Amino acid sequence: MQDATVLQTSSSIDGNVSCCADWQRVHHLREQYDAIAVGGRTWNIDHPRLTARAERLGREPKRQPVRVIFAGSQPCAIQPAAVQTFVIGNGAPFQGCGHASDLVSLPMQGHDLRQPLQALYGHGIRSLLVEGGRTLLHSFFRQGFADVVTVFVRTSSVERAVHLAREELGFTLEDLRVSPFGEGFLLEAGHAHACGLAQGLEQAS
Ligand SMILES: NC(=O)c1ccc[n+]([C@@H]2O[C@H](COP(=O)([O-])OP(=O)(O)OC[C@H]3O[C@@H](n4cnc5c(N)ncnc54)[C@H](OP(=O)(O)O)[C@@H]3O)[C@@H](O)[C@H]2O)c1
Repeated sequence: MQDATVLQTSSSIDGNVSCCADWQRVHHLREQYDAIAVGGRTWNIDHPRLTARAERLGREPKRQPVRVIFAGSQPCAIQPAAVQTFVIGNGAPFQGCGHASDLVSLPMQGHDLRQPLQALYGHGIRSLLVEGGRTLLHSFFRQGFADVVTVFVRTSSVERAVHLAREELGFTLEDLRVSPFGEGFLLEAGHAHACGLAQGLEQAS
């Protein structure tokens, strides 16, 4: 099992941010991680299922990650799921549809990630795939909790891919690796085993 925090996002010039190969890659990534996280706005706008799915993988998923919603002050409605859901908030109500045993509410102060990451670690979560949006991704960067960054950009130009990834991420990655992938390019930085949640928490303290 990988032991890291990974930030994953996709971008494109025409609004269609992904392609079949990238969907398969993302679902393969999802089944390798203990948990998938999104920000409260992504949860409310996109209603993501945050599952690894057979129709994308071409086979049954090996396992499912638990769900983590960094709700902050955003009220969130949580639909029932086969996996546990952690809702990290600072007091906003969330609606749990009568399936309270699947839901764990964890506190946070402002956008400080340390307390909720410590709590997730206490619940046995050792690896976290953060799938956006931009506000949450930037918090992980700023607070030093990103071990690996992976960005798929659907475009035909490598220069355009790097430019769009910089725009999406908000800054330049020093050790950026770029390779053709599917209908675009995959941009990756960091090392999968460089640092896990435990070491990340130690280093940030
Ligand atoms: N292209 C892609 O791959 C991709 C992936 C995901 C999402 N998206 C898109 O991104 C958009 C949403 O992105 P967004 O940037 O507006 O919102 P977001 O990052 O999804 O959510 C931001 C909210 O999360 C809450 N939050 C809780 N803990 C936080 C923390 N530690 N740091 C930062 N925020 C925290 C905050 O609520 P409070 O400030 O109220 O406390 C914040 O307003 C959607 O349109 C979605 O479709 C794109």
